[in-house]
Amino acid sequence: MQIIESVNEMQQLSLKARGEGRSIALVPTMGYLHEGHASLLREGRSRCDLLITSIFVNPTQFGAGEDFEKYPRDMERDMTIAAAAGVDIIFAPKGEEMYPEGYQSWVNVDKLTLPLCGASRPGHFRGVTTVVCKLFNIIQPSVALFGRKDYQQLAVIRRMTSDLNMAVEIIGMPIVREADGLAMSSRNAYLSAEERQKALCLNRALHGVRSAFRGGELSALALRRLATEIIEKETSPVIDYIELRDGTTLEEVATTDGKTLLALAVRVGRTRLIDNCLLGDEC
Ligand code: PAJ
Repeated sequence: MQIIESVNEMQQLSLKARGEGRSIALVPTMGYLHEGHASLLREGRSRCDLLITSIFVNPTQFGAGEDFEKYPRDMERDMTIAAAAGVDIIFAPKGEEMYPEGYQSWVNVDKLTLPLCGASRPGHFRGVTTVVCKLFNIIQPSVALFGRKDYQQLAVIRRMTSDLNMAVEIIGMPIVREADGLAMSSRNAYLSAEERQKALCLNRALHGVRSAFRGGELSALALRRLATEIIEKETSPVIDYIELRDGTTLEEVATTDGKTLLALAVRVGRTRLIDNCLLGDEC
C-alpha cells in the first residue's frame, strides 16, 4: 500500500493507470476509519483494478464553530484498516495542496442542498461537492462509493455527477451499525459512556416510526410527532431536525409511502449525530 500526499503525483499515477485501461474505485473519507468505511472499501475492491481511498479532513465543509480542529485523526490506525480492506493507495493531501493561496472555485448544487443538513450547516454541501469534484479530477475514478448514512450527501453527489456529466459511477452503500443499532460514525468517538447510551434514541425513533408506518400510519405529521416523542424521552438530546421527505427529491411530503425518507439530526451533549431510513426498508 502506497501513501501519496502530492496532488500532482496522484493525478499522474491515475491518468497513467486509466490510460493503460485499468479501472479505479475511489472511497473519499475524512479518516478515523471504522467498519462503515471498511464496507465501502471492500465493495470498491471487488469492483475495480485499483482501489484508492482519500483521507482528508476537508476544511471547507466545516462551518465556523464546528469541529474541524478537533475532528479525530489517527493515520496509523487508518493505514491498518485500509491495508486489511485491500487498499492500493491512500491519497492524503495537506490542506495547502488542495486549497493553495488564491483558491476561489466552487461547485454548488442548488435545491437538494437547501433542506436538512444544508439548512442547519450553511455552506457545508458547497464544501463537500467542491472537494469531491476535485478528488474526481485528481483520481479519475471509474466508480466512487458513498454511504447512505449521509443520505443527503449521496443524493447531492449523484445530482452533481449527473448534472455536470462526470464520467464516474456512484455507488450508494447500506448504513453499517454497531450491535446495538447506533450508526457507526467517526464522531461517535466524542460520546461519553452516558451519551453513548442516549445516542440510541435515534435508532429507536427509526424503528418506532417504521413499525407505525407498517401498522398503517401514513401521516407525515403523526410519524414526525412519534419520532419527536421517542427522542424527547431522553432528557438531554436536542433535536436539530426530524423530517419526512421524498427519498429522491427531498421535498416535504404530507402522506408517506415506502420510499419516504425519515431523516434525523440530534445533538447528544456536544455531538451532532445523524441517521435515516426509508420507511419501506430494513434499518
Ligand atoms: P466521512 O464522514 O469520513 O465518510 C466517508 C464515507 O463513509 C461517506 O460516504 C459516508 O457516508 C460513509 N460512511 C460513514 N459512516 C458510515 C456507516 N456507518 N455506514 C456506511 N457508510 C458510512 O462523508 C465524508 O467523510 C465527507 O463528507 C467526504 C465525502 C469524504 C467529503 O469530504
